[in-house]
Parts: sequence; C-alpha cells; structure tokens
Amino acid sequence: MGDAAAGGQAERAEWTDPSALESEPDAYRLPESAALDLLANGELAIRGRLVDASNATMYCDISGNGVEAACVYKPVAGERPLWDFPEGTLAGREIAAYAVSRTAGWNVVPPTVYRDGPFGPGMCQLWIDADTKVDLVALARSGDHAGLRRMAIFDAVVNNADRKVGHLLPAPDGHLYGCDHGVCFAAEYKLRTVLWQWRGKQLPGEALVALRCLRDSMAAGELATDLGNWLTPEEIEATRKRIDLLLEHKVYPFPPTDWPAVPWPPV
Ligand SMILES: Nc1ncnc2c1ncn2[C@@H]1O[C@H](COP(=O)(O)OP(=O)(O)O)[C@@H](O)[C@H]1O
Ligand SMILES: [Mg+2]
Repeated sequence: MGDAAAGGQAERAEWTDPSALESEPDAYRLPESAALDLLANGELAIRGRLVDASNATMYCDISGNGVEAACVYKPVAGERPLWDFPEGTLAGREIAAYAVSRTAGWNVVPPTVYRDGPFGPGMCQLWIDADTKVDLVALARSGDHAGLRRMAIFDAVVNNADRKVGHLLPAPDGHLYGCDHGVCFAAEYKLRTVLWQWRGKQLPGEALVALRCLRDSMAAGELATDLGNWLTPEEIEATRKRIDLLLEHKVYPFPPTDWPAVPWPPV
C-alpha cells in the first residue's frame, strides 16, 4: 500500500474511536444504493496515487449529501496497455465484475461505478479499510473460509486473470471483499489465481443457487445491460458458457494447462 493509502488509513483510524463511530459509521457499511449514489454523484478529491498499483490508481475522498468516504479512482486514461486485453477496457470490466458479484449476492466486489473524474472517465470503487490484523497469506490458503470459497467461484465465473493475495480485502466485520477486477472476462480460459485449494471439489449448494440466478439474470434486466455495456458479445457468451459448465459439472475448476495458473508475484 502506498503513502497515500497509509495517510487514508491514519485519517479513517479516527473513526475507530467509539464516539466518532456513532456519528460517522464506516463507509463500507453504507447501504449499497447509498454507496453507489455517493460514488456516482459525490465530489471526488484525489489524495494520492497508490504506489504498488500497476495502473494509475488514485486514492480519493468522496463526499456529498453530508456523507464522506474514501474510494479508489482508476481513470481509463491511466490504464497500462496489455497485450491480452483490448486497450481502454479495464475500468468497464471492473463494473461488469461488480454487476456479477452483486447479482449473485456474493458481494465480493465493493460498490463500483463508472464516472467522470479529474483525469477523465474511469471506475470509482468504495475503499475498504481492510483489517490489518488478518494474515493475508494464511487467509488465501484457508480451505474452509466461506467468503473465500465464494470468491473462488466468482473468479471462475468472471475468469479473473489476476487474483493475488494483495487483492483480498478482509473487512473488520469479517466480510471478505476483493479488488482489482480489470483483467476479467477474457473469452479464452485465463483463470489465474492463488485460490486453487478447492480444484475439482464439489461446489456448495448455495453456489449452485447463485449460479442459476446469474444464468437467468444474464438473459434480461440490469445484469444483461451492464454486461452488454462493457463486454463484447463473445465475452458475454463465454461467461454464459463458464456458468453452464460450473452448473453441469458442479465442481470448482482446474487450473488451465496452457497459461500460468498463479499470478506473479502471487502477493
Ligand atoms: N476498494 C479498495 N479498498 C481497499 N483497498 C483497495 C481497493 N482497491 C484497491 N485497493 C488497494 O490498492 C492496491 C492497488 O489497487 P489495484 O486495484 O490492485 O490496482 P492495479 O490495477 O493498478 O493493480 C490493491 O492491491 C489494494 O491493496
Ligand atoms: Mg493490483
């Protein structure tokens, strides 16, 4: 985490004072719709750039209607070109990933919107003050963490090509969020993750329910619109096929054989 983020942590640490909490609840506890409204319409003030980020990833304050929060802003103009994803599409993929996570009821992805900002349009995502007491490497290796299992299935659906340990955000209330979903939804199988511990194991029943809900929601409605806005028809079709495969075989996927299955560096 960069200096800017450290500054943000310091400021938000004041909120752990109980008297401050009464008047200013942690932003990640905002109702989803209020968080989305704040992110979409609030005033964005850049505090600094996250130094460990590979793209131009800004740590910002966002405020409006008397509510304040911290967020991440990734302008499209700051996206580093990649050989395997079309240029200028990463922010949109983050929105599509949020739409999948929300529709499935997994809430892996913090509230995320596409909006204009000081460096032009980009994605804006609620900042989660992760619990620094959690050992992320141990968490990533866990075999019985419900939130982590959900994240592994979410990654399989969105075909996440970059699930690193540092992309795990355990909130202080125990909920596990994830970040950095720009390199998702490739049409070819590109799952690259540190979460292979359940490969070939049976999917839990709740995952099958969520997957069926996703498959149905892809036909029409908000999810269909969101995916249509940000992904190509081929990528949407591939997403549908990944969901169908998971529902057919009812197991966690196996690592691809023609593609590095673990991100580098893994942390
Ligand atoms: N919504 C968020 N809440 C808290 N921390 C975040 C959030 N988004 C990103 N971060 C932190 O910032 C780092 C860099 O962001 P990331 O999305 O990985 O950028 P990049 O696409 O440039 O790699 C992450 O590894 C994580 O530590
Ligand atoms: Mg990253």
